[in-house]
Amino acid sequence: MQPIIPPFPVARLRRTRATPALRALVQENHLSVKDLIWPIFVTDVPGADVEVASMPGVTRYTVEGAVRAAEMAAGLGIPAVCLFPYTDPAGRTEDCAEAWSPDNIANRAIRAIKAAVPEIAVMTDIALDPYNANGHDGLVVNGEIVNDETVECLVRMGLAQAEAGADILGPSDMMDGRIAALRDVLETNGHKNVTIMSYSAKYASTLYGPFRDAVGASGKLVGDKKTYQMDPANADEALRLVARDLSEGADMVMVKPGMLYLDVCRQVKDTFGVPTYAYQVSGEYAMLAGAMNNGWIKREETILESLLCFRRAGCDGVLTYFAPEAARLIHAGA
Ligand code: PBG
Repeated sequence: MQPIIPPFPVARLRRTRATPALRALVQENHLSVKDLIWPIFVTDVPGADVEVASMPGVTRYTVEGAVRAAEMAAGLGIPAVCLFPYTDPAGRTEDCAEAWSPDNIANRAIRAIKAAVPEIAVMTDIALDPYNANGHDGLVVNGEIVNDETVECLVRMGLAQAEAGADILGPSDMMDGRIAALRDVLETNGHKNVTIMSYSAKYASTLYGPFRDAVGASGKLVGDKKTYQMDPANADEALRLVARDLSEGADMVMVKPGMLYLDVCRQVKDTFGVPTYAYQVSGEYAMLAGAMNNGWIKREETILESLLCFRRAGCDGVLTYFAPEAARLIHAGA
């Protein structure tokens, strides 16, 4: 569609920018509190429920703290929280068995939040890294991240999360075949309405660094994640991954990181027209927070502009560590 622009001065494109009222009328995209998913870190490691050094303003919570955080988020109208466990690095094993324990920290937090704040959707992370001795998302056998054996672990992990009451499972592991396997185990165990938001296009990005501090995986990772996460140079491959995950039973798909991959968000939305989300990841948060805290960029405007871009790129929502602050700004009419 080519816009028809008559010659100047018939067309003066500044007319519709002249007043706040006119600008409001022609505003194309809107950010709503309903678009926000808030990632939170939970831990039962004594003394670990403190601010994450590389994510100023982001705190790890105890289970009780996470319940209060979820209550606060629900009060602000945020529809979902997404839980990430910080486990004791000393207790991580090669077989990752804690990942599917019904009483691991993530599953206890799911149950506590669903009991206290049933109206908020609880999303989970499915990947072995918080429970793995070597920091990888999959099982490592003879130095190789093995796919099919990992999928068996992920299925157990996802089922335990569903049984704890999770509303949205978020497989972030990038193994092949995991969505079909998860969907199958959910159907055969009576969890017909548990949704899957697949981390379909997850890039091997440097921007996950602060997150790995937050979950205690920094320094633990042996090698890199390039044999399973995507090459930042690729976009066609993202469309193949999304198509594959949809065909296997994903209800929603995600692009991650966010701000550096807005072109991929737009292509996914235009190609498939399915619920599409982006993750504004820890490194994006850290870059913005660092500049804001130094007074180099304005806090409130930057938070909102950095989230509105996802709506413009076609996303239905965004996972962001700024969620509560953004919600307050939206409610205040900023
Ligand atoms: C775990 C996982 C990661 C993130 C979400 N789930 C880290 C990784 O893949 O290394 C990153 C989130 C962020 O950086 O905010 N597989």
